[in-house]
Amino acid sequence: MKAVAIQAFGSPEGMAVIDVPDPSPGAGQVLITPAAIGVGGVDAMIRSGALAAYGFKEGHIPGGEIAGTIAAVGDGVDPSWTGQRVWAFTGAGGGYAEQALAPAATLVPLPVGVSAADAVTVGSSGAVACFSLRHARFVRGESVLVRGAAGGIGIMTVQLAAHGGATAVAVTTSSAERGDRLRKLGATHVLDRAGEGSQDAPAGYDVIIDIVAGPDMPSFFARLNPNGRMVAVGIVAGYPPADFGMDMFAAFQKSTSFATFSTDSVAQPDRRAAIADLFAAAGRGDLQSVVHEQLPLEQAVLAHQKMATGEVFGRIVLTPPGV
Ligand SMILES: NC(=O)c1ccc[n+]([C@@H]2O[C@H](COP(=O)([O-])OP(=O)(O)OC[C@H]3O[C@@H](n4cnc5c(N)ncnc54)[C@H](OP(=O)(O)O)[C@@H]3O)[C@@H](O)[C@H]2O)c1
Repeated sequence: MKAVAIQAFGSPEGMAVIDVPDPSPGAGQVLITPAAIGVGGVDAMIRSGALAAYGFKEGHIPGGEIAGTIAAVGDGVDPSWTGQRVWAFTGAGGGYAEQALAPAATLVPLPVGVSAADAVTVGSSGAVACFSLRHARFVRGESVLVRGAAGGIGIMTVQLAAHGGATAVAVTTSSAERGDRLRKLGATHVLDRAGEGSQDAPAGYDVIIDIVAGPDMPSFFARLNPNGRMVAVGIVAGYPPADFGMDMFAAFQKSTSFATFSTDSVAQPDRRAAIADLFAAAGRGDLQSVVHEQLPLEQAVLAHQKMATGEVFGRIVLTPPGV
């Protein structure tokens, strides 16, 4: 079969289409014929070599999130899965391919009305959004700031916060055009990347979901209300300064909190249940999937180039040949 592999760490051009043997499902695994493959920020980090210390090697086939039809099941997996349309998290990669393996424990069936492209746009990003808001103990009537709202996670967080009864959903983004698109998804206040630019934005927020981190992250602690909670879920701008906690200590009397959050810390059954709920909401039209562009699998290099330019709003989806 055809697959896209990282031949050399670094730029997108280090990836290439190669021929590899058809995979065969082991115990607890399923073989999926993907109809859609999500292109995520983590794929780009792996491709760059930034995660080499975590065991990723050149030759790796990226792709953690796929949706398609189950072609075969391994030992210990209910054979009735065969032929079902599902979303799956491959875990270790392997998704940029005509056939891919995934642990059966991650499978979520696709309801009628939810396409494979919708599923890989809503699934993983929606789970991060949903659980990060829970991690922040967000409740109806609180105000939320989403830092880095124009990506897959941010778009889902904005929608879930708005549907969850936030009094304000402020976003940071780099252009007025993106701000308008985010308003249509539920944002109430549009700020620039520095958190400025809106006259009527709240002075403080009960919850900040931060997908960006980087050198500017500590300046956002000052925007937390008393008892406010910031949850960092991404490092789009890199790690924060080593002494970032000092800005919180400077406002000790506000009793603010900082936490990191990864869906890796959520048990699989809870993740599956949340993603099934998100798909149901998408099927009802209550949650929008924002697909930036669909590209053929063999144009994975172009997909990563587009991500590197920062032009992507939402998610790029790869489509294998014949879909
Ligand atoms: N916690 C988890 O469980 C989990 C799971 C998967 C992935 N992740 C992490 O989530 C991140 C990717 O999320 P994503 O795909 O939603 O994000 P993304 O699309 O890569 O970036 C989100 C937005 O951040 C803004 N941005 C980019 N660079 C910036 C900078 N230097 N300063 C300020 N804003 C900047 C951009 O919007 P504007 O141009 O409009 O500002 C961009 O659209 C990665 O760090 C990944 O490791 C976390």
